[in-house]
Amino acid sequence: MTDVNTLLLYCRSGFEKECAAEITTRCAEVGIYGYPQFESAQGYVLYHCHEPGGALSAMRKLSFRALVFARQWVACMPRLDDLSASDRIGPIRELVAELPETGELVVEVADTTDGRELQGFARKFGSALAQGLRRDGLMLPRKQRAEWRLHVFVLTGRTLWVGVAPVGNSSPWPMGVLRLKFPKHAPSRSTLKLEEAWHYFIPARRKEELLRGSMTAVDLGAAPGGWTWQLVNRHMFVTAVDNGPMNEALMDSGQVEHRREDAFTFVPSKPVDWMVCDVVDKPARVTELMLQWALNGWCRNAMFNLKLPMKQRFDEVERCLERLREALAEAGIKYRLQARHLYHDREEITCWLSLTPEH
Ligand SMILES: C[S@@+](CC[C@H](N)C(=O)[O-])C[C@H]1O[C@@H](n2cnc3c(N)ncnc32)[C@H](O)[C@@H]1O
Repeated sequence: MTDVNTLLLYCRSGFEKECAAEITTRCAEVGIYGYPQFESAQGYVLYHCHEPGGALSAMRKLSFRALVFARQWVACMPRLDDLSASDRIGPIRELVAELPETGELVVEVADTTDGRELQGFARKFGSALAQGLRRDGLMLPRKQRAEWRLHVFVLTGRTLWVGVAPVGNSSPWPMGVLRLKFPKHAPSRSTLKLEEAWHYFIPARRKEELLRGSMTAVDLGAAPGGWTWQLVNRHMFVTAVDNGPMNEALMDSGQVEHRREDAFTFVPSKPVDWMVCDVVDKPARVTELMLQWALNGWCRNAMFNLKLPMKQRFDEVERCLERLREALAEAGIKYRLQARHLYHDREEITCWLSLTPEH
């Protein structure tokens, strides 16, 4: 498996620079060196490791969830070019024979206009390929579990990447994207950010405990109410802080108190289960606000956005997360902090700060 030297990482188109800086930094921290390669707006990044088999070592040493900007990662064999339309499967078969054993196949494309045009081809090709590989004993029979998942990333009908991802240390969703249906009655599309955040961050075994009805919540920068809608939908009682107007139907639920105040000076009368924050302001300022809530014990969990309209987005995220980690550690507070550039996030990332982490 010494040829598995390239990490392929999918990201939102336009965030290749951040994804590349992040994987380079995280790999160097665990002693894996290489160089990134990407073009802007292509929706993916390559990281070529110097060490033979370096892409597999990276996956053993790093946690996928520690990456903010990568939607998915795949440890790849060298790229297949100039495939003939009459036999694409043959060359893929040769590469698959060199890879760890897999039990499922996903054929994916970049999340770009060009990529999406190949989706129909990818789907058809995927079922033919899976059948062929199983017939040749190169993939386990259906439903038999394996530690690895096989990925084929289609760039054109003649060019593709073949690789694997660890089932337990990668995104479970095709293209690393969790698609959600917009809830008909929600007041804004932003609602999907909080819904996705809960799906992504909160493990199924903790959903009951962390998202119970009758919990209390504060929504900072709440208007018109997409995030409040999610909280109310889970039967929570919400204080919505915003100078702007809240959706009327949401207010009619009787579960929302609207406070026309500044999120940066608002103080809750009692600690709450959840504080969520979608205020549009400088990330450093929002970070200090989150710290204030954590250090004062005003909430048990915080879900917040850091808006990233600036050029050096990766550096800014690193600075903010480091500031939180250092200040919380210094105060002796137990916490868990995770961050992710969610599918429904645009120029922003979402963070979950849990002040009641599992032991
Ligand atoms: C992106 S919108 C929030 C959308 C909301 N999460 C939703 O799902 O409908 C940002 C909101 O932050 C509010 N905001 C900005 N600065 C604020 C501040 N200092 N205090 C309170 N609200 C603020 C704005 O009025 C705006 O309604």
